This record gives sequence, structure tokens and C-alpha cells, in this order.
Amino acid sequence: MTDIDWDHLRLVANEAMERAYAPYSRYRVGAAALVSDGRIVSGCNVENASYGVGLCAECGLVSELSMTGGGRLVAFVCVNGDRETIMPCGRCRQLLFEFALPGMLLETVSGIRTIDEVLPDAFGPRDLEENRR
Ligand code: THU
Repeated sequence: MTDIDWDHLRLVANEAMERAYAPYSRYRVGAAALVSDGRIVSGCNVENASYGVGLCAECGLVSELSMTGGGRLVAFVCVNGDRETIMPCGRCRQLLFEFALPGMLLETVSGIRTIDEVLPDAFGPRDLEENRR
């Protein structure tokens, strides 16, 4: 996991950010992630006149992940309209956790972190397993 090309991942996130539809918040976001099979998936935020149903960039990213063959997320970064790295919001950390390879890395405002560091003691698929009830 040491050979992640963060510069390239950030570039893809910035390209996604350029496609954001954020006329209400005027806060554009782009996200990109490396997948376990080597492909890269990305997404941008897509807002709505009904503000509460706007989609974060990570929604598009996980949709592309599923639509292009699934797999596990290995590394992730998201950026704002000023091309600064930002933190994924709380809900989106949960979206990422669902598809994270154990030990998945995120580039964050405080450096490289693991998914477990940014979403400790996460509720996840294992909590729903029959034998854990
Ligand atoms: N946003 C994202 O796309 N991802 C995040 O992780 C943080 C927030 C979007 C949602 C909304 O369109 C805008 O940023 C302002 O909150």
C-alpha cells in the first residue's frame, strides 16, 4: 500500500470536482479512489433544488464502483473547489466503510489516515450477520 500515487488520485478528484453541480451551496467537491483491481473511480457532488436530497461526491463514487465491476476501495481523497483536500463528511465515511479494503487509506487534512481512524468502531455489514444477533 506504499505505492499509492496520491498526486494522480488528487488529479482525478480535481477533474471530478470540475463537473460538480453545486448551484446552491456553491461548494464544489470531487472525490477519487483507487480500487483493489487497480482502476480508479470518482464522483462529484450533485445538488438539488430540494436541498436535503443533494448527493455528495462520494455517492457518485460508490455508484461508479458498483457499476464498473465492484471491488474494494484501497485509497481515497476528496477536494473542494479550491483544490484543497477536505474530509469526507460523516455519512460518506460510512459509505466508504461499506466498500473499504481493511486498512484503506485516506488522504486527509491531517495526513494519511486509515478508514478505522476516521470512522472508529464503525457499524458495518458484520453487525448484520445472523450469528451476531
Ligand atoms: N459534500 C460532499 O460532496 N462530500 C463531502 O464529504 C462533504 C460535503 C458536498 C455536499 C454539498 O453539496 C456541499 O458539499 C456542501 O456541503
